[in-house]
Amino acid sequence: MTTADPRLHVDFCGLDFASPLVLLSGCVGFGEEYTRVQGFSNRDAGAICLKGTTGPARLGNPAHRVYETPGGMLNAIGLQNPGVDRVVDEILPALDFSETRFIANVSGSSIEEYTAVTRRFDNSPIDAIEINISCPNVKEGGVAFGNDPEMSARVVTACREVTDKPLITKLSPNQTDIAENARRCIEAGTDAFAVINTLMGMAIDIESRTPVIGNNQGGLSGPAIKPVAILKTHQVYQVARAHGVPIIGQGGVTSAEDAIEFLLAGASAVGVGTALFYDPLILPRINEGILDYMTRHGLERVSQITGALVLNENRPTPGCGC
Ligand SMILES: Cc1cc2nc3c(=O)[nH]c(=O)nc-3n(C[C@H](O)[C@H](O)[C@H](O)COP(=O)(O)O)c2cc1C
Repeated sequence: MTTADPRLHVDFCGLDFASPLVLLSGCVGFGEEYTRVQGFSNRDAGAICLKGTTGPARLGNPAHRVYETPGGMLNAIGLQNPGVDRVVDEILPALDFSETRFIANVSGSSIEEYTAVTRRFDNSPIDAIEINISCPNVKEGGVAFGNDPEMSARVVTACREVTDKPLITKLSPNQTDIAENARRCIEAGTDAFAVINTLMGMAIDIESRTPVIGNNQGGLSGPAIKPVAILKTHQVYQVARAHGVPIIGQGGVTSAEDAIEFLLAGASAVGVGTALFYDPLILPRINEGILDYMTRHGLERVSQITGALVLNENRPTPGCGC
């Protein structure tokens, strides 16, 4: 069992992750989704993020909710979940907290809903709370909270007031200046970041001339977004390292090499989501590959890889690449 290897352990906000790998929200249900797959073990993950949870239950969006794209997938699930009371009262008691760390994923359509859901999870055995600020602010015009630094900071401030558990803010790539957003979220009291959530996208059925996804647009995930996610992780790291705020880097990880790229860019832990849809047994292979890299480079701890990227010097100001 690779995760028994002490070299893979990561301290994340005071939590002991047995591996830097984190199973991502929406890709593992409520931690039980893959447990029926022979050979799958929650122990291979340092932590598991549960599906996005709201105050009241949500039925989710009309079909189609997922669509495969070159190198990725579009999804617009619509936060289908049974509501926070059922998650805390019925689902959490069934999880085996001796296997791994469990992280709640909080969503809402108002600051009040974020606060209420966070407060409910604070009064539960959950190890940490991730806030998904990519949801639309229904009360104020429907713009996603996470696309605006001011609104992002307001969500973090409100959630911070109701929990002492580690608070992870999941940043959206669908904004102009992710580093400025991160700065505001640190001031508002976040303990950590998850970088990045999905990129907004659309696919069109040319015969019917309608969007393929029932919700018209959806979030793009998978290998297609990895270079964007690596850059955003590095931009957030440049702000976060001064404050000791760790990052769960994510977006398109399908191999140990991908995970190591995120660690080099500044992540302390690395998320795996879409890859699970085509290989639920991918985690042990990634863990083994990270150990192999550490052996080859004479490293004793995963944290020695974090932020070890060496940028080329004297390059022109970042631009569009033209
Ligand atoms: C089907 C699906 C459902 C998702 N649901 C959520 C969710 O409920 N909350 C959330 O914060 N992120 C959600 N995500 C985003 C993932 O957690 C992850 O941040 C993103 O997919 C990038 O990682 P990946 O390329 O490894 O999948 C979802 C992604 C997918 C593919």
